[in-house]
Amino acid sequence: MKLTLKIWRQAGANDAGAMHTYSLDGVSEDMSFLEMLDLLNEQLVTNGEEPVAFDSDCREGICGMCSLMINGQAHGPEVTTTCQLHMRSFKDGDTVTIEPWRAASFPVIKDLVVDRSAFDRIIQNGGYISANTGSAPEANSVPVPREKAQRSFNVATCIGCGACVAACPNGSASLFLGAKITHLGELPQGQPERYTRVSSMVAQHDHEGFGGCTNIGECAAACPKEIPLDVISQLNKDLRKAISTGH
Ligand code: SF4
Ligand code: FES
Repeated sequence: MKLTLKIWRQAGANDAGAMHTYSLDGVSEDMSFLEMLDLLNEQLVTNGEEPVAFDSDCREGICGMCSLMINGQAHGPEVTTTCQLHMRSFKDGDTVTIEPWRAASFPVIKDLVVDRSAFDRIIQNGGYISANTGSAPEANSVPVPREKAQRSFNVATCIGCGACVAACPNGSASLFLGAKITHLGELPQGQPERYTRVSSMVAQHDHEGFGGCTNIGECAAACPKEIPLDVISQLNKDLRKAISTGH
């Protein structure tokens, strides 16, 4: 395949950026999207040009690093991560537009790389349980109803990629936050800190400049892990209880 790539290039956080156009030949439909970018970078380096900076780590859909807007959609046209998107989703002659996440709380560092450390700070403000150290407790000493264990597991699949924020017109991280609150709030181990957790994480969310949720639902549509929208209801329910009980 031969593609025309329109890519956001920005030298640094404080520099102005612009879209640049590249022509790339020899793209196989079996390549992943990131392998296609690797091919482009080989071409750029061979020509003595600066390669395009982009994030990736596991390339297996696990780490959440590969954050790209592709043709205006977070992670591109399939419900998957950018690293798991394959070039068979495009056809010969296509023009593909590639931009970084666009959100005030995820500032661009260089080209397609954004700073998502705001998510780390939200997690540091309650996305954990406190547990005594020592040997692991006996597995059946704290029974967990099957449906609660299943729901907790399903939402624990959130990889913190930030696609929900990039897709939201308000730049809200409510889906991410709802996933973390629900994951811990469904389990007995998450109960002691349940309401201080939600207050603290929401305060950090707002402090980082993420917007409020207005129930548009673009976040859930863009999520590569199919986190359901109702985790935001759980988030709001827990927050109301936290406020009414003085947490
Ligand atoms: S909720 Fe989905 S889109 Fe948002 S950070 Fe988690 S995995 Fe990514
Ligand atoms: S590189 Fe890890 S999820 Fe894509």
